[in-house]
Amino acid sequence: MKKRSSLKIMLDLMILAKVHTRDLVIATLAGVTSFFSSTGIAVLAALLIVRLGGFISVPIYKITISMGVLVCTRGLSRYLEQYMNHLVAFRVLCTLRDKVFAAVRRLAPAKIEGSNKGSLISMITSDIELIEVFYAHTISPISIAVICGLTYIVLIALYSPAIAAVTLISYLVMGIGLPIFFSKWSKETGRTLRQKIGSLNNIFLDLLRGMTEIMQFSYRKRAIRIVEKTNKSLVDHQAVLIEQLALLLALEDVIVVLTTGAVIVTGILTGLSTSVLLPLAFGIFFSFPAIANVASLGNGLSQSLSCGERVLNLLEEKPVADEVTNGFDLDLEDGSDPIIVVNDLSFSYGDQPVLENFNLEVTQGEFLGIQGISGCGKSTLLKLIMYFWPLERGEILISGHSVQKINTQSLWHNISYMTQSTEFFEGTIRDNLLIAKPNSTEKELREALDKAAILDFVDNLEHGLDTTLTELGDNFSAGERQRFGLARCFLKGAKILLLDEPTSNLDTLNENIILDALKRNSDGKTVLLVSHRESCFKICDRVIRMQKKESFSKTRQRLYKDKIQTPRTEHMNIR
Ligand SMILES: Nc1ncnc2c1ncn2[C@@H]1O[C@H](COP(=O)(O)OP(=O)(O)OP(=O)(O)O)[C@@H](O)[C@H]1O
Ligand SMILES: [Mg+2]
Repeated sequence: MKKRSSLKIMLDLMILAKVHTRDLVIATLAGVTSFFSSTGIAVLAALLIVRLGGFISVPIYKITISMGVLVCTRGLSRYLEQYMNHLVAFRVLCTLRDKVFAAVRRLAPAKIEGSNKGSLISMITSDIELIEVFYAHTISPISIAVICGLTYIVLIALYSPAIAAVTLISYLVMGIGLPIFFSKWSKETGRTLRQKIGSLNNIFLDLLRGMTEIMQFSYRKRAIRIVEKTNKSLVDHQAVLIEQLALLLALEDVIVVLTTGAVIVTGILTGLSTSVLLPLAFGIFFSFPAIANVASLGNGLSQSLSCGERVLNLLEEKPVADEVTNGFDLDLEDGSDPIIVVNDLSFSYGDQPVLENFNLEVTQGEFLGIQGISGCGKSTLLKLIMYFWPLERGEILISGHSVQKINTQSLWHNISYMTQSTEFFEGTIRDNLLIAKPNSTEKELREALDKAAILDFVDNLEHGLDTTLTELGDNFSAGERQRFGLARCFLKGAKILLLDEPTSNLDTLNENIILDALKRNSDGKTVLLVSHRESCFKICDRVIRMQKKESFSKTRQRLYKDKIQTPRTEHMNIR
């Protein structure tokens, strides 16, 4: 992970918020007014005491009316400051969430495959929430502390330069020394804490996914131990942060009390009159909250900045395969034959080689079956055709153009890619179909469903295409899911279909329905069908067998079509 200094993180986060500068200025001005008012109330209170003691002759009503005005100003400005700070913070967080999602989309699918989803989830949720501390409780407190601190020092210097010097030293210790010391001290703890939260999320996700395995393989005790261990380590780190925070608060109080004492002693030693010294001491005592806000930043800020660092790193991460935007737009209507050519393709994930000198030619309209033992690179081949990963050596040509030169959106527009599980999103069945072709007519939707042999199922639902997934309880059978997946492919109408084990979760009956639908409705389409099941290949014109980490010369692609026998399918009456 790229590490940056705290200052760099703050600057980068500020740049992200620059559209909200006006609101931040309003928040800061409100904050300055609020602190001036509260210090002013303290000074007036001291003046009242001095007046009651007979040291000055200002009318009491003037002091009390001024106090009343300041109390109202304090209330209003405090409200405005808090409101504007949080408004800015939540608006920036909203922008950040959009940016993080856009980054994940840009980096997917390689990022999603390669990284742990728990960390991504904690980044999108809690990390972004914690950056709120920076926007709502950092930028304006620092600006307020600088403006208020300097003004107070100038005002104090008008009455006593010696007391101004003492106060300045305290301000510097509290406003600069303490936050730097504590943020350095707690930075590593903050960073580790965020990582621990990420790994706890990962563990929970893993355990939730594997609940069935946990139950049946007596993994329960170990699973509980793993959660306990990670949880404990998380709490240990939180305890360290709390200790640091407690110490900081104690030190702040000590500084305020010592400074007030030093101010009084300095005032007496320099012969300052009681009528000046008392309001000064009161004012200085009550001026510290403006500075203490900065001192308290160190602890919360360290976590906020480490979240900021993770989010900034994600936003700047380069996709594994850059989306091509200045290349060709594919036109497969009168595309060249063979439609897919793979030349001497080699590919590895890191240092794990998967494909070596792989060659393949697929003609237009061909149904090609791809077979091979688990891990030999069948799915990888399809992902490379989709340009999810960059090619290392060799080339893949679609209709004569290298996938590296075809605009990625156009490539994806012309290929339908379906895997063994079809995902549904919140919304109705119609919404879920429309993602394949947003402007489809009712007729097109029904045709696609019919081709995928799922129209009857939809027509039997009370609300038909407008049935929500919530109504259905997301309770599709695996076969129904895949038929919807196929309907999406038909609706999209792409000329090339890449199907990665589309029937591996299905029984023979459902497999036959899907294969039948494919064969009947894929006229003119080129289909690459990956499967472990020989029964799938009965619809294929040709079948190749891939072998693990070996050279795949053209001559070694064995033709299997003749050898495959279609297994006998037993039809049963299903009630
Ligand atoms: N994102 C990834 N990062 C690292 N290694 C990966 C990644 N995806 C796949 N692999 C590895 O690459 C090899 C080929 O994987 P691939 O999924 O292409 O195999 P496959 O032939 O489709 O296997 P199966 O029949 O089990 O689906 C495997 O050893 C796998 O562990
Ligand atoms: Mg696979």
